[in-house]
Amino acid sequence: MFQPHSAEQLAALAVRAREQEVPLKVLGRGANVLVSDDGFDGVVVRLDHASFRRVERRGSQVDVGAGVDLMPFARACSNRGLSGLECMAGIPSTIGGAIRMNAGGRSGEFGSVVKNVRVLRPEGGTESWSKERCGFSYRHCELGDNIVLSAQLELVEDDPAKVRRAFEESFAQKRDSQPLGDRSAGCIFKNPVGRSAGALIDQAGLKGTQWGAARVSERHANFIVARRGATASDVLHLIDLIRERVRCAFSTELEVEVDIWRPVGVRR
Ligand code: EPU
Repeated sequence: MFQPHSAEQLAALAVRAREQEVPLKVLGRGANVLVSDDGFDGVVVRLDHASFRRVERRGSQVDVGAGVDLMPFARACSNRGLSGLECMAGIPSTIGGAIRMNAGGRSGEFGSVVKNVRVLRPEGGTESWSKERCGFSYRHCELGDNIVLSAQLELVEDDPAKVRRAFEESFAQKRDSQPLGDRSAGCIFKNPVGRSAGALIDQAGLKGTQWGAARVSERHANFIVARRGATASDVLHLIDLIRERVRCAFSTELEVEVDIWRPVGVRR
C-alpha cells in the first residue's frame, strides 16, 4: 500500500508500476469494493495525505481533492447553502470514488455537479477532463486507468436552511430503507433498466438468506451484510445464488455493481 505525499510522487509510482506491469488500484473508503479472500497482488494507493484533501471555494464553485470524504463534505456544502450534493447523504465514499462510480441514487448523481476533473495519466502527466469527456452515466464514467486527483464542482447558491433540510431528508430516507449501520458494500447489483434489483431479489424471497456469516439484508434486499467472520467467498456465494434465483424467477440478468478485486498475478 502506498500513500503518496504529492501528485508528483504518485506519478512516479504509477509510471514505475506500468513499466513493471504491476497492477495499481486506488482505494477510496472501500465502500464499494469487495476484496477476494486471496487478496490483490499489486499496488494499492490511498490518497489520504493533506495534499489530496484540499477544498477551495469561489462563490458557487468548489475545487475538491480526490481524498476528501464525501459525506462530511456534502454536509458542509449543504450547511453553507451550496446545493447539488444533498443526494450524497448516506453514501460512504471519497470524492475520487464518487467520481469513478458516478455515485448517486434516485434523486441525483455526482457527475451532474462536476465541471471538470483533474486526472493523472497512467503514463504520467496531468490533464483536465471536462464533464462531457468524463462521460458520466449510471454508476459509470469513461476515466479508465486515469487517476482522479481533484475536481471542480459547480454548485448552486441557495437558502442554507432549505439545502440543509433537503440533505437531512435524503439521509433520513436512506436510513429508513437501507441497513446503513451494518457492514456492507452498498447495493450489490445495478438496477436493470426500468426495474429495481432490490425489489426483484425481495420478490424472489431471498431476504434473510444466509451463507456463512453473510446475509441478504432484511431491510433492503440489494444489500449483503457481513457479520463478524464473514469472508469474501461467503459474499460471492450469495451473489451467485441471487443471480441464479432472479434469472430463474424473472428471466433477468443482474449485473454486479461492486468492484471485485481478485489476484491477477504480478508479472515482472
Ligand atoms: N424494494 C423492495 N424490496 C427491497 C428493496 C427495495 O421491494 O428489499 C423496492 C422499494 O420499495 C422501491 C424500489 O424497490 O419501490 C426501489 O428501492 P429504493 O427506493 O430503495 O431504491 P433502489 O433503486 O434499490 C437506489 C440506488 C441506491 C440509492 C437509492 C436511494 C442502485 C442499484 N441503488 O436504490 O444506491 O442509495 O436508490 O437513492 O442504483 C448504491 O449504489 O450502492 C446504492 C445503495
